[in-house]
Amino acid sequence: METKIKGAEGIADAARLIKQGEVVAFATETVYGLGADAFNEQAVKKIFVAKGRPQDNPLIVHLSKVEDVGKVAVATEMALFLFSVFAPGPLTIVLKKKTQLPDIVSAGLDTVGIRIPKNKIARKLIEQAGTPIAAPSANTSMRLSPTTAQHVYDDLKGRIPLIIDGGPCEVGIESTVLDLSQQEPVILRPGTITQEMLSQFIPNIKCSSQAVDKVSSPGIKYKHYLPAVDCVLAKNFENAVAEFERAKSKNQKAVILGRAGFAKEKDVNFISLGDNMELVAKNLYRILREVERQFDYIIIEEFLEKEIESSVRNRLLKATQGIIV
Ligand code: TXA
Ligand code: MG
Repeated sequence: METKIKGAEGIADAARLIKQGEVVAFATETVYGLGADAFNEQAVKKIFVAKGRPQDNPLIVHLSKVEDVGKVAVATEMALFLFSVFAPGPLTIVLKKKTQLPDIVSAGLDTVGIRIPKNKIARKLIEQAGTPIAAPSANTSMRLSPTTAQHVYDDLKGRIPLIIDGGPCEVGIESTVLDLSQQEPVILRPGTITQEMLSQFIPNIKCSSQAVDKVSSPGIKYKHYLPAVDCVLAKNFENAVAEFERAKSKNQKAVILGRAGFAKEKDVNFISLGDNMELVAKNLYRILREVERQFDYIIIEEFLEKEIESSVRNRLLKATQGIIV
């Protein structure tokens, strides 16, 4: 199959493909998604096949407006309130699912994640397709999420008919996933809508890693975000340099990544991820995809457990499999 890349002018074609039961990749503000009509079981199956995604990992359903939540899920007052604050935007809320929604979307769970994206391309596509769109990130399973159309092409060329290019994603990491379907609200995946921001409305909101009763997000048990070469986190620049020298002595070509201010000397390969955490999140996957082609070893600044830092940290703990030097 030929994979075409089109800009916003391709949205009508993309909407037609979705209605016909095909899959289409498209820009959102977080990462690129691989979408299909959420009510078409055969179409949703194609997403799992194209990505090589395990069938027991549920998909997020994307809507263009909050009024549509009731088509797929049982809206709660808190969910509607949080959407009134944060939607459209990078927040996914897990709610009890309506039985009309095919089980394949939620991987057999009785809950479903709902997101109302902000990106214009995503919104227009959902509106024109006239149906909720189930979409995971548009990468091959276990690879980094794509933040440009080229990343999607690199992973999925020949497997999908069309990519709608909206330029580089503004946010750069996946949405915050907040589970409101159980007794205790819990953040299953941190994002740029942070624990601190949500705690204004849900005091003491926990992240699943902090929750006493670990709530399981099916995605958590899978290896995620694995770069092609070994990666470690470094507590500080001195440790990063020591690790760099160690790699060098083994003839490995290493690189250090971090915030602009992380590097304190010039004699090492250092690439800045950005001046602030918003930029770090935005650039992270693009830079990881670039450096894994050029280097054998990636050493990355360890970020802290606060605000957006903790969301980037969450992704990097997976990329490095938790190795900190
Ligand atoms: O920003 C995003 O959320 C992007 C864009 C395309 O919207 N989508 C995305 O989807 O990252 P995906 O499938 O790559 O990640 C969704 C995560 C998975 O870890 C999945 O297990 C979890 O959300 N999830 C989805 N539905 C769930 C549910 N009903 N209960 C618990 N976890 C759920
Ligand atoms: Mg994903």
